[in-house]
Amino acid sequence: MRISITDLCNLRCLYCMPEEGVCKKNHEEMLTFEEITKVAKIAAELGIEKIRITGGEPLVKKGIVEFIGSLSKINGIKDIAMTTNGVLLKKYAKDLMEAGLKRVNISIDSLRPEKYAEITRGGNVYDVLDGIQEAIKLGMAPVKLNIVVIGGYNEDEVVDFANLTKDDDVEIRFIELMPIGQAGSWAKEKFISNETIKQRIGNLIPLPHQPSSPAKYYKLPNGKGKIGFINPISSHFCGECNRIRMTSDGKLKPCLHSNQEIDIIDIVRNNLPQLREVMKQAILAKPQQHYLYTEGFELGQRNMSEIGG
Ligand code: 5AD
Ligand code: SF4
Repeated sequence: MRISITDLCNLRCLYCMPEEGVCKKNHEEMLTFEEITKVAKIAAELGIEKIRITGGEPLVKKGIVEFIGSLSKINGIKDIAMTTNGVLLKKYAKDLMEAGLKRVNISIDSLRPEKYAEITRGGNVYDVLDGIQEAIKLGMAPVKLNIVVIGGYNEDEVVDFANLTKDDDVEIRFIELMPIGQAGSWAKEKFISNETIKQRIGNLIPLPHQPSSPAKYYKLPNGKGKIGFINPISSHFCGECNRIRMTSDGKLKPCLHSNQEIDIIDIVRNNLPQLREVMKQAILAKPQQHYLYTEGFELGQRNMSEIGG
């Protein structure tokens, strides 16, 4: 289960958020940590073993360490991971790990300070690099780096990113840009396929596919780490997808690429005993496949910062 705990973020990536950020939602519209923990308990009873915390940026939320601690005490939850932009990771990594966080996926779209600042509208890449080093040092293995390749921006860095796997046991994952959020109206030239990236890297050795992983993995000939490719658009991995998402305002989403949402905020607050059945139905409502780009498809109404990727 992927749980977005906030749609606020300390960065403003070009493809994700408008420059002015997203409007802060009313407090009452958002699930509290206590309420999310209740949902997670029921999810665990239904058999969910792994939780990924996403945002916006999860580390901007006050009380995050204690929240991770309360999730890790739930019977049946075996794995807690987080997707973060890494800016605040150095500060929190040790406390998070002690609270029960096992792993982090860190989004970093450029290794060059100016380019990183441009793509994130003001971020400092050294903060992220420090966070990555800290996560490696603490043994949050495997540390995964998410890279969205954008034509005309960071496409010339794909080999630099791939080379990070030479000496460190990190996983680099190239994610194809999706036409949602800000990128919904972008020109075709900005969308670079993973095939193009693979060709640029060249010498890649395929690794066995892990079911339920959205990435196809390769490695460099003497590389320690792995290089993954995630094609949300050009390859359907829907049949192997076992994820259920929850937004920070308490909507269950059976599929990232569908506008179907099940509002559970009222049930969590006023009718908790009913939640188990509602969650079960939401899981059973997972569609057979996504319909991105097929006839009649409507672009998602939400930014990625609201769903958490
Ligand atoms: N296309 C592809 N990836 C995106 N992300 C955010 N918006 C998009 C988009 N339009 C990525 C972030 C982060 C992950 C959670 O989702 O870069 O790595
Ligand atoms: Fe923040 Fe992630 Fe969106 Fe960038 S992609 S603005 S880091 S939520």
